[in-house]
Order: sequence, then C-alpha cells, then structure tokens
Amino acid sequence: MRCAIFASGNGSNFQALAEAFSDDQSAIEIAFLFCDQAAGYVLERAKHLGIQSYHFTPKDFASRQAYEEALVDLCQKEAIDYIILAGYMRIIHEPLLEAYPLRIINIHPSLLPDFPGRQGIRDAYQAGVEETGVTIHYVDEGIDTGQIIAQEKLPILPGESLEELETRIHRIEHQLYPQVIKELKGR
Ligand code: GRF
Repeated sequence: MRCAIFASGNGSNFQALAEAFSDDQSAIEIAFLFCDQAAGYVLERAKHLGIQSYHFTPKDFASRQAYEEALVDLCQKEAIDYIILAGYMRIIHEPLLEAYPLRIINIHPSLLPDFPGRQGIRDAYQAGVEETGVTIHYVDEGIDTGQIIAQEKLPILPGESLEELETRIHRIEHQLYPQVIKELKGR
C-alpha cells in the first residue's frame, strides 16, 4: 500500500507514521510528504527521514481547483492508494474527493462530532468536559465531519494543564494513527 501524507506544520504524526511503517513487514510505504507551507517543520522531518517531499500552495496556481488538480496528478503519478492527512490545515474539495473516494483519512484531536475545527484540544479543555480523545475518520467535504473509523477516549484529569492534556492527546495520536492505517490495509 502506497500512501501520501499531507501536513502543514510540526509533523509529529507524520514522524510517528514514518517510524511505524519503516519496517518491511508493515508493507505500507510512504511515497512522499506533501506540505502546503514553505516553513513547515514537517519538511525538515522528511529530509531527516529520507522521505521525498513536495511543497506548493494554492497561490502558485490560478485557482483552488487547479491546486487540487495538481495534487491529484501528483498522487496519480506516484500511484498512491491512500492519502493520510496529518495536521493538513485545508479543507479537501471535489478533485481529490472524487479521485480518492474513501481513500483520504484524517486524524482529529477530539471525540468527534464534538469540538471539530482547528482547536479541538483547547475547545474541549475550555468547555470543561470530563473526557476527550482522538478520532480517525474518512474525509468528506466538511470540516471533520466524515465517517468515523476509530476513536480513543481519555479523561481530562482534575488540575491538568492544557499543555499536559495536549501531550497526552498527541501520545495517543502517535500510537493510534499507525495502528488504524495498518488495519485499513488489511480490509
Ligand atoms: C494533530 O493534533 C492532529 O490531530 C491535528 O493536527 C495536529 C497535527 O500535529 N489534525 P502534528 O503536526 O502531527 O504534530
């Protein structure tokens, strides 16, 4: 199974996936990283991991449609089976959704449908809920609305800081995401 990872920033999930798939037994290959931000630290991670990367943005194209069509072309040229979003901060539109139906996966740091959007951890923390978690889901045209594949809950501990909660959420993400992708491969 050949995957492309799309990311925009830090890339800790990209790194966790790359490390989990690095042994031949996984039979999952990360063909490339795509990053839409020139300064995304994830590009550095790809370099260190020896994974090829591509970088361009919608501004490089005449339209958003043309940007996504370029992504479709790239994924088709690279014979990609699955697109894995790992902190990719853009909505996915028709060109990619039509080219990869049920083949685009996202991870979100809350128990969807609660707390979608950019600040899932902080929003759950500030809402004062007793538990939050991590969701892995298929991508559709909405913001964190696609069909859920897997969820893992975790309690928000009394007196815990937001930073502590973020650390615990990311730890779950780094373990759950590779595990779920491996399971998808077997389906
Ligand atoms: C993760 O919390 C992920 O759930 C969300 O964006 C964050 C990306 O973090 N979609 P990183 O760039 O993988 O460190």
